[in-house]
Formats: sequence, structure tokens, C-alpha cells
Amino acid sequence: MTDIWTRLASCRAAQEDLRITDLFASEPARAEAFCTSADDLVFDWSKTTIDSAARDLLLELARQSHVEARRDAMFAGEKINETENRAVLHTALRNLGGSVLVDGQDVMPKVRDTFARMSDFASKVRSGEFTGQGGKITDVVNIGIGGSDLGPYMATLALAPYHDGPRTHFVSNVDGADIADTLRGLNPETTLVIVASKTFTTIETMTNARTARDWMAGAVAEPAAQFVALSSAVDKTGAFGIDSSRVFGFEDWVGGRYSVWGPIGLSVMLAVGPEDFADFLAGGAAMDAHFRAAPLDSNLPVLLALTGIWHHQICGYPTRAVLPYDNRLMRLPAYLQQLEMESNGKRVAMDGSDLAMNSGPVVWGEPGTNGQHAFYQLIHQGTTPVPCEFILAARGHEEELAHHHILLAANCLAQSEALMRGRSLEEARGLMRAKGFEGAELDRQARHRVFPGNRPSTTLLIPQLTPFTLGQIIALYEHRVFVEGVILGLNSFDQWGVELGKELALQVEPLLKGDSGEGHDPSTRHLAKLFQDLRQP
Ligand code: F6P
Repeated sequence: MTDIWTRLASCRAAQEDLRITDLFASEPARAEAFCTSADDLVFDWSKTTIDSAARDLLLELARQSHVEARRDAMFAGEKINETENRAVLHTALRNLGGSVLVDGQDVMPKVRDTFARMSDFASKVRSGEFTGQGGKITDVVNIGIGGSDLGPYMATLALAPYHDGPRTHFVSNVDGADIADTLRGLNPETTLVIVASKTFTTIETMTNARTARDWMAGAVAEPAAQFVALSSAVDKTGAFGIDSSRVFGFEDWVGGRYSVWGPIGLSVMLAVGPEDFADFLAGGAAMDAHFRAAPLDSNLPVLLALTGIWHHQICGYPTRAVLPYDNRLMRLPAYLQQLEMESNGKRVAMDGSDLAMNSGPVVWGEPGTNGQHAFYQLIHQGTTPVPCEFILAARGHEEELAHHHILLAANCLAQSEALMRGRSLEEARGLMRAKGFEGAELDRQARHRVFPGNRPSTTLLIPQLTPFTLGQIIALYEHRVFVEGVILGLNSFDQWGVELGKELALQVEPLLKGDSGEGHDPSTRHLAKLFQDLRQP
């Protein structure tokens, strides 16, 4: 293993003067050869510094890391989440046929039953058969945080053209502003509140849920009758007062950030309907089938993972930007932040030893073209390259606005071209000379207009953003994270790093209410004191 990392590092070191543009000259079929499809999803990774030698070594790395065996173990329901002794089977939520054994038990009948109950409930809400105490449900408020918010929120926004159910709203932050701003203007008599929490203990969600229940109680006789719970802790949902007919459970083998495919996706299903939701699942299942069957060298999740490994662990680029040229994917970067950074932001390997490599990069982004007018300056001319992952649909949904879409796409392609090509000093000098500059001022002005270029990017091209393609995209990124985690030898399915802050928040709360600061550091005590002083009217 060490040897392959060393060989990859040498391969990179030998690229000192390499220009991506030169690769297209030396590898005439590069545009096609470094462009890989899964069904009608196309992943172009030609505008990177991965040449044929690097590609072969990266594939060797994947082979030596036993990616295929680990993948098969995941799909087979083996307990690959070793620090929590759990299987990892979010894939079972989107592939409803067949059987999967966990501890000798087939988990699929229960999954199918829950899906059928969700569909039935969603249909009744959408048709008006299930009503609020003031009539047909007009609004749905999903209260959840992390995976219980980011997935359904992202997917609901992405599927806006399919939205023909009640309006959906999402409350996540414990900041009272979030729930106050959301509930203002809603009619409690026709609002359905979903409490989405795998554990049903998350303090933000439970605080918001109680506030929503109080709000509801001010207007209707039976507030709990307009509440739904989505959780794997079904024992706790009853204590909150939610009738078991409106509790949709899932098992501990569904990680929070992988949970949009099951009950946590109920708000999406309410918005777009069970059929479109099933298409979303089908898209995810199609990507699963590709991931399981395609050879490593034409396997999209594997290749996306290998570009990630190349850029972060080998080239040392600290961040990567996800840049969807699709306004409806505006929450995708935030969703991927949790998916990637909570999964692979680790410092020890599965066996508890220190990781030999850097783990996950910082993931960030915004939809294009907006980002172009904000942070692309740094991407083009900053000192540290940022590998960019562009996402573009061939068709938009607004046929009457097709000219917008062409312009959107032109911008996307232009950005990846500009990043790769850059603008040399000579070209910049020519431009400035044409504007009448000369001498030292010509040089000075020209230097500001140089683009170093040679900045890597990939492009994921999809036919259109539909429930099916959204499912493909999300499953693609999930498996990418999995493959990277396997290669790094870490556990992508726990998140112990979020625990300490949660524990300390509980201990700091009394301090802010005036308790003595015993056990806290001087800075925290001082800040708490200033906070209290500033709260005085
Ligand atoms: O704090 C992190 C986390 O546990 C995430 O992994 C999870 O998605 C989120 O909190 C919400 O958890 P729950 O669904 O249990 O409320």
C-alpha cells in the first residue's frame, strides 16, 4: 500500500511543468477517454492533471484498497460501520425488491411496509383525505437538523417543477428566529408538522418541536394529531404524544446523512407525490447497480473518488468546490458538506491508528453563475488551486426560457475552459498594449490580468434535473464518499467528532443562566459574563 502512495507522489512530482492543455495534445483521444458514463449521466474528468500514468496508479490504489470487496460487504448488510457495530444499508431504502439479511433477518419486508405506509399517508394528505383541524393541509413544516434537514430540504428545492402538494418549510436552527420566521404567516389549523430525528433526542430538533407544539396548541384542540414523527427511536415518539399511525421508523443501519431515501424523505414525498419520490429512489438504485457492476476503470463513483484523492491527498489542494449550474441545486453544496465532511473528516483509521494520509478536504460551493460574481476571482487568480466540480443539465424545465439555459451552460463550459487555459503574460501584455499602455505601466497592468490556468475541474453532465437524475447524483456522491473512505482506511459511517460540542453546550447553558463557571476555561467564563452583561436592558 505504502508503495502505491509513494508511486503516486512520484508521478505527481514528475508533473512539475505539466499543463493540462498539453495532455490533450499528447493524448489525442483524451476528451473521450476521460469522459465516463453511467446510464445517461456523463462525468468528464479530462480537465485534470490525471494523465494515463496517474490514472493507472489511481486504479491500482483502488484495487489494492479492496474497494470492490468492501462495496460488496456493504450491499450484503455486513457490519462495516465497525465503531458502532452497524450495517450500512441506506441502499436498501431505494431498492425495494429482493432481500437483505442483517443478523440473519431479512430487513426488506419492513422497509417495503414503511414505504407503503408513507405513500399511503402522503396520498391522503395530498388528496385531502387526511386533514388538519381546519381543513386540507396547506403547509408542511419539517423540523430536523443535519441529515434530517439537509437531504429533504435539498431534494425539495431541486424538484420544484414536480411540486404539486402542500407547501413545504424547513426549520433546523435552534435559533428561535428560524422557527418564528417559518411559522409566521402559517395557519396552524392546516399545517402538518414533521419531527424528523433519527435519535429523537437532538436538542435543536426537540426544542423546535416543543415550540411548534405550543404554537399549534394555541389554535387547535389536538395539536399532536397534526404531528408526524420520522425516527429510528420509535419508543421516544410516543412519549412526545405522536400516535403510532403517524410514526415512520427506520433502522440504525441508516446513517443520518444517508437517510433522505426513507422516512426522512417524507416532506419530499408530500411535495412531489409518491410516484415522483419512487423515481428518485429508482435513480439512486440505478446508480447502485452501476456502482456494483461497472469495472473500476469505468465506474463513476470510483472515478469521482479517485479524482478527489488525486486532488487532495496527492496534489495537496485543501478544498474542493461543488458548483452546480442549476439554481435548484442551491442546497447541494451544503448537503455535500455534511455527506463528505461528516463521513470522511476523521483522523484515525478503522483500527484506531493515526491516518497515514490527510483525510477529507473542505467542501464548499454555490450555484453558478452567482459564484462567478463572488468567489471565482480566488478560484482563477488566488494562490491555491481549488479543484472545481461543475454540474450541468442539458435541458432546463423552462422551455420558454431556453435562451437562459444556453447562457447558463455557456458560462459553465467557459469557466472550466478558462480555468484550464488561463491567460499568459504575453496575452495580457497584448491586451494592455492594445489599450495604449506601454513601458513599466504596461507590465504592471498586464501582470494583474494574468490567469495562471492549469486549474483542474470536472463536469457532471445530466440530461435534465428530474427525480430520477437527482437520485443518481446523490447516490453517486454517496458512493464517492464511501470509496474515498475505503481508500483512506477510515470509517465513513460514524461521527464521533460532533459529540464533544454537544456535551459542552449542555454544560455551558447553566453558565449563561448565571451559574458559577466551575469547570470552564477563563475565556469561556469571560465570554459568558460579557454575554450576560450585554443582555441587560
Ligand atoms: O450531530 C450530528 C448528527 O448526529 C448528524 O449525523 C445527524 O444527521 C444530525 O445530527 C441529526 O440527528 P438526528 O436525526 O438524530 O436528530
